[in-house]
Amino acid sequence: MTATVTMRQIAERAGVSIGTVSNVINETAIVRPKLRERVIEAIRSMGYQPSALAQGLRRNRTNMLGMVIPDITNPFFPGVVRGVEDVAYKRSFRVILCNADNDPSKEASYVRELRSYHIAGLLIIPAAGADIAGHLRAYASASVPVVCIDRVPDGWKGDAVLVANAEGAYLATRHLIQMGHTRLAVITGPLKLTNAAERLKGFTRALNEARIEIGPEFVQEARFDTESGYQAALRLLRMLPRPTAIFACNDLMAFGVLQAARELSLRCPEDLSIAGFDSLEFTKFTDPSLTSVYQPGYQLGATAARLLLQRVDGMRFAAKKVLLPTELQKRNSVGPPNAIVPEGVGRIKVRERSDLARRKQQV
Ligand code: RIB
Repeated sequence: MTATVTMRQIAERAGVSIGTVSNVINETAIVRPKLRERVIEAIRSMGYQPSALAQGLRRNRTNMLGMVIPDITNPFFPGVVRGVEDVAYKRSFRVILCNADNDPSKEASYVRELRSYHIAGLLIIPAAGADIAGHLRAYASASVPVVCIDRVPDGWKGDAVLVANAEGAYLATRHLIQMGHTRLAVITGPLKLTNAAERLKGFTRALNEARIEIGPEFVQEARFDTESGYQAALRLLRMLPRPTAIFACNDLMAFGVLQAARELSLRCPEDLSIAGFDSLEFTKFTDPSLTSVYQPGYQLGATAARLLLQRVDGMRFAAKKVLLPTELQKRNSVGPPNAIVPEGVGRIKVRERSDLARRKQQV
């Protein structure tokens, strides 16, 4: 019923002209309070729903925000979207969600297309390898604000809300080292992504601090998904000597490592310690539960949406880079290494390892 009510019918019911109805709905002119009340009463009683699209076209801006995410099947991203949506909803904005499937060309066409919807602003978690910064700058020149979340594309100097990736990775790696591990491997995300590169930096920093050297084969690049984490873990665990601990730079890849370890009859954490990144809800339910670096997905989204809406409201300030903290959450997938490593293997400074083991015993 609501869809078929027209302005003409409202005008007839209220006993005013269509122009007066339009002025009330679109706030295009001041209408005498008595007439205004009659129009509003008619709108209410007839259940009239104005077309948001038509209104948006008239104002050259809708109450819609565009959001492009790289992978809707990754359980980390819905939390981010939820944060965006909650903030947007409270301000009567609606979110058009696009899933790029980690495909740069799909991402670029979504970003281009969203402009034709006259969105008020755009939020984007860029996909791997995407050369999207140019498209985003085109938004800026059209005065449509953009905020990047979680990762920034090359050459992006605008607003971004990120987490302390390097710090989180450093904490996880230091924890593995404090447990006595020296043969540590890392499975990174796609290193073109800023967050994947930052996490590798954090891992390396912890190793450097403890003067632990690992061979390049202990650094495996994967795709932030379970399958590539599983394949990378198989490669690592078939090496001789194999690592006693693996830091997977997101939880999905850590789940792949758990699966590979199970298939190779390696016990976790007795034969292999595993740490992840994200600390998804599921990490409590794996066997063993997964030690992981928590990053506040919901807050990432909510903070980015608030920043975007400040821009939409016309606030002017220098480009902001907001950095949210990460936190290591210790569960049961990390323990001390099982076997004593023979001197000289795996390009590890064994002396350093013994120092650590001694220190641990003293604790
Ligand atoms: O799990 C997906 C990963 O990619 C997360 O760690 C998040 O930071 C995203 O960039």
